[in-house]
Amino acid sequence: MSNSIKQHGSIIAIVGCVLMACTQSNKVFTPGELWPDNKGVHINAHGGGVLYHSNRYYWFGEHKIEGKAGNKAYVGVHCYSSGDLYNWHDEGIALSVVDDTTSLLVKECIIERPKVIYNAKNKQFVMWFHHELKGMGYKAAMTGVAVSDKVTGPYTYLKSVNPNKEYWPVNFADSLKRKTVDMDTIKQWSAAWQKEVVDGAWLRRDKEKGQMARDMTLFVDDDGKAYHIHSSEENATLHITQLADDYLSFTGYFARALEGKMNEAPAVFKRGDKYYMITSGCTGWKPNAARSAVADHPFGPWTELGNPCRGTDEEVKTTFHSQSTYVLPVKGKEDAFIYMGDRWTPENAIDGRYIWLPIEFEHDKPVISWFDEWRLKELPGQF
Ligand code: DGJ
Repeated sequence: MSNSIKQHGSIIAIVGCVLMACTQSNKVFTPGELWPDNKGVHINAHGGGVLYHSNRYYWFGEHKIEGKAGNKAYVGVHCYSSGDLYNWHDEGIALSVVDDTTSLLVKECIIERPKVIYNAKNKQFVMWFHHELKGMGYKAAMTGVAVSDKVTGPYTYLKSVNPNKEYWPVNFADSLKRKTVDMDTIKQWSAAWQKEVVDGAWLRRDKEKGQMARDMTLFVDDDGKAYHIHSSEENATLHITQLADDYLSFTGYFARALEGKMNEAPAVFKRGDKYYMITSGCTGWKPNAARSAVADHPFGPWTELGNPCRGTDEEVKTTFHSQSTYVLPVKGKEDAFIYMGDRWTPENAIDGRYIWLPIEFEHDKPVISWFDEWRLKELPGQF
């Protein structure tokens, strides 16, 4: 084959790829199906969240690899961008794990549920994520933070912490601060034991070293105040903390929410002047029934609204076989929110699917129903 024919062939191949990328045109959401990015590869951004910035959506999530081991961080946090929410462009790895064994961000640690927010004051993008240390299972229960001047990264890892060391939540009674109880003497999961958990047994235990932080999300209010919301106290109780003005640290100004109710996978959003939360129970990678709650302030008090899912028993009991990760407000549309959930596949982590469904409201309660496929503009009264 002559050189010119070979060159011609590769030019055609390149033009073909470029055309494919330009003409990538998903026009519909198909929850649970493979979701190809601009390169035709299933999106790899699990436990993710979305930031809207300069007219574009950025989806950040856990980059998983094949097999069971794939739930550990061998790569880092993956970023994709989109103008229309259907078609996603691979922006590469925003935060990379490292080979340096002296770094907490060493390969094979666990990075889950990364979320990115924009700090207008410092013109910086701030990423927080649930961070477990290599070889320690889920014991460390930390939250990590990384920062970048560019939305797609690379993000510079700053630190991981057990937050709110030495602080009491604003809604914790003084009498309980002084309480002493030996939890080993009470039968685990008995009513008395659970009462002690609600009364802050784990909160008091962890006050000196910092609180546990597992499943997490971020929420930025209209006034620019940012909140870090995470499962704490052995996953029994949610902690909601106002971050510092630069969003890079905890202030110690925090509240407990849904005490003793065992919530994971929090996703917080605002509709009108009400704050909503969708969460799950705690069943590892297996799906369970979603929960929802409403409040007048991020610190609560939060009123439970029950399971937002509508459908068959199986769908309602398993949240359409998914677990919440984020609620995405659609820009330019009033009251338009998308439930983002993960359908985990722990045996082959990379194959996890995304369950995106519209959130509707009935009497100010969020409701989620199944659609095999749906479009933003199709849903009456909302999109
Ligand atoms: C449920 C959590 O929501 C996930 O993020 C992950 O931590 C799994 N548990 C691990 O079992």
